[in-house]
This record gives sequence, structure tokens and C-alpha cells, in this order.
Amino acid sequence: MTILAIETSCDETALAILRRNGSGSELLASEVASQIAEHEKFGGVVPEVASRNHLAQLPRLLERAVASAGIAMDEMDAFAATSGPGLASSLLVGNSAAKGLAIGAGKPFLAINHLEGHLLSPFFGREKIEPNVALIVSGGHTLLVNVRGVGDYEILGRTLDDAAGEAFDKVAKLLGLGYPGGPEIEMRAQKGDAKKFDLPRSMLNSGDLNFSFSGLKTAVRYLLPKVVIPSEVEGSRGESFKVTHRDPSTDARDDVLADLCASFQQVVIDILREKSLRALQQTKSRRLTLSGGVSCNRALREDLRAACQKNGIELLVAKPWLCTDNAAMIAFAAMLRLENGIVSNLAEEIDPNLALA
Ligand code: KG4
Ligand code: ZN
Repeated sequence: MTILAIETSCDETALAILRRNGSGSELLASEVASQIAEHEKFGGVVPEVASRNHLAQLPRLLERAVASAGIAMDEMDAFAATSGPGLASSLLVGNSAAKGLAIGAGKPFLAINHLEGHLLSPFFGREKIEPNVALIVSGGHTLLVNVRGVGDYEILGRTLDDAAGEAFDKVAKLLGLGYPGGPEIEMRAQKGDAKKFDLPRSMLNSGDLNFSFSGLKTAVRYLLPKVVIPSEVEGSRGESFKVTHRDPSTDARDDVLADLCASFQQVVIDILREKSLRALQQTKSRRLTLSGGVSCNRALREDLRAACQKNGIELLVAKPWLCTDNAAMIAFAAMLRLENGIVSNLAEEIDPNLALA
């Protein structure tokens, strides 16, 4: 079975061709065209710009992927696209393209939930998935999910405000760092002291499995004027400070920045670890999976690995190239769905707020 999948839920245009190969699978092509540079100057993703870019990129990506896979279009057995959650005008581009290809080829179309793509990605390429508790941490979502099988999901907890990745992005913006904020903060955190600043671990003892990260961002915001000089306030709401330490030397400024990044990152990790362990306890599961853009973070991966080892839990983490948005994970989810007899039809519409369960 060979599947062509398209992912255009946000600002990444991605296309992949995946083939089932015995009990494994072979990724024949995977293309990701990032639009980060185009949105960076606006300080975030502009939907209109994103959809125009998807439209411009997709035909080129399709041509290149099919050529590099070395197969003909009529060898595809199904076409899949992310149908939500995401930006409506972005989702529409990939969805319409995949539907058109499916109609043209007379092959099935599969509408895939973006979150299911992330959630299954730690098992990428495998024949089957095992029941697990999934922690999905991305720019738009923070979810703990009880995964009983393909298509059989129960939401255990979610963020009540900002997503984990969103917290990284917003704090990075406050610190005057680039977008996306995750990699920027991770890099600086490596040289910082995570115990330097005491930031709130919101909802750590709330008794449920939900998250809240907006208070953490606010705490960083109020801490900033005490440790740095807000010499240059950027943005219409004055949310961004140019980080200049009260001691004007560059070294001192970099140290404060590193300590802030390390302290912030550690709080996010502590919350994710504790809630994940609680979810495992609650479901009596012995397997945790980690996926989504924030799971690129090496400190998070290492922390969870140590915690799982200590508690006799198996940890499966998506490979770094599968953590951020891509179409290979969408193709894999489509393949597992088809193999499990779950199909969708052409009448299935995009849904910007598509729920996982
Ligand atoms: O999964 P993803 O590519 O897109 C969504 O579906 O949202 O996740 C993007 C998010 C961004 O917020 C980005 O800052 C975060 O993942 N991210 C990271 C790291 N790399 C990307 N967060 C923390 N540490 C990283 N190394
Ligand atoms: Zn994503």
C-alpha cells in the first residue's frame, strides 16, 4: 500500500509518500517547505499569507516528491490530508488538493486529524501501535491522551489557556528572542541556572490532568523589569523588552537571559513530567509516548527518560524530524487507519476546531 499525504494546517507546506513494506514501511518522499521567514516579520503566522504560500508551494512539492520517490501517480493507493485542527484557509488548500488527486485517480481519500498524526508519530513505520498515554506538546496544543488503539482516544487532560509551545514562543518574544521560541530558549537554557528564578508551577497540584501556562508567561513578564532594564519596548502592547542587564556588560546580560530561559524551561518540564506520571498512574498504563514540536526539546526528552526509567515506564519519543509539523506522520496515520478499516469520504469537510475525541 502506498499513500500520498498533504499537511497544510498552519505555516508548513508538507507532502509525503509512504509505502507499507512487510511489517515496516518505507518513506519514499517527504518534503517540508517552511514559511517561518515570511511570518517572522509579523511576529506570528498571518493566515492569508500562509494560504497563499501553500497554494504556491504545493504543486512544486508534489512534482518533486513524486519524482524523488521514483513512482507514478497511478501507483498511489490512497490520498490523505490534514482536515483539522488548524487555520481554515490553510487546511482548505491541502485538503482540496488531496481530494482532487483522489478523484482524479479514483482512489480513496482520508481526512486526518493533525493531532492524531502527532500522537501516532512515536510509532512511525511500525506495523502496529501499543496502548499508551500520549503527551502531545505543540505550538497549538498540550494534551494527555489515553490511547487504546488507532482511532480510540480519550482526552485525559488539556491546557486551559496557552499551549506549551505557545508559552515558549511568547516568553521568547518577551525576551526579545526569535520565532519559533522553543529552539531559541533551549539553546540559551543550556548555559543557564534553572534554580536562579522561582517561577510558578501552575496547577501542579490541581488534582486533575489539565495544564495552564499563561500564568508562567505573566510571571516572566513581571520578573523582567526587576532583572533587566526595559530600555526598548517593542510591540503595540509593550510585551517585549530589550534585555539589558542592570550591569551593562554583555556577559552579564547573556547570563541573566540564560538563567531566565533555564528557569522557565525547567518549570515547563516539571509540569509536563508530573502530570504525565499522574496520567500513567490513573490509567494504570506502563507506556508513555511523547510527540509534537516541543518534544524536540532535549532537556524535556532526557528528563522524561530518567523519570520513566525510575518508574518502570516504557517511553517512546517521536524522532526529532517527526516532532515538528510534517506530512510523513499524516501518511502514517492514514495508513494505520486504512489497515484498521477506518475510512473517510470526500464529503468530509475541514474543521479548524476538529476534536481528537
Ligand atoms: O508541532 P509543531 O511544529 O506545530 C504545531 O502543531 O503547533 O510545534 C511548534 C512548536 C512551537 O511553539 C515551537 O516553539 C515549539 O514547537 N518547539 C520547541 C522546540 N522546537 C520547537 N519548544 C521547545 N524546545 C524546542 N527545542
Ligand atoms: Zn503540529
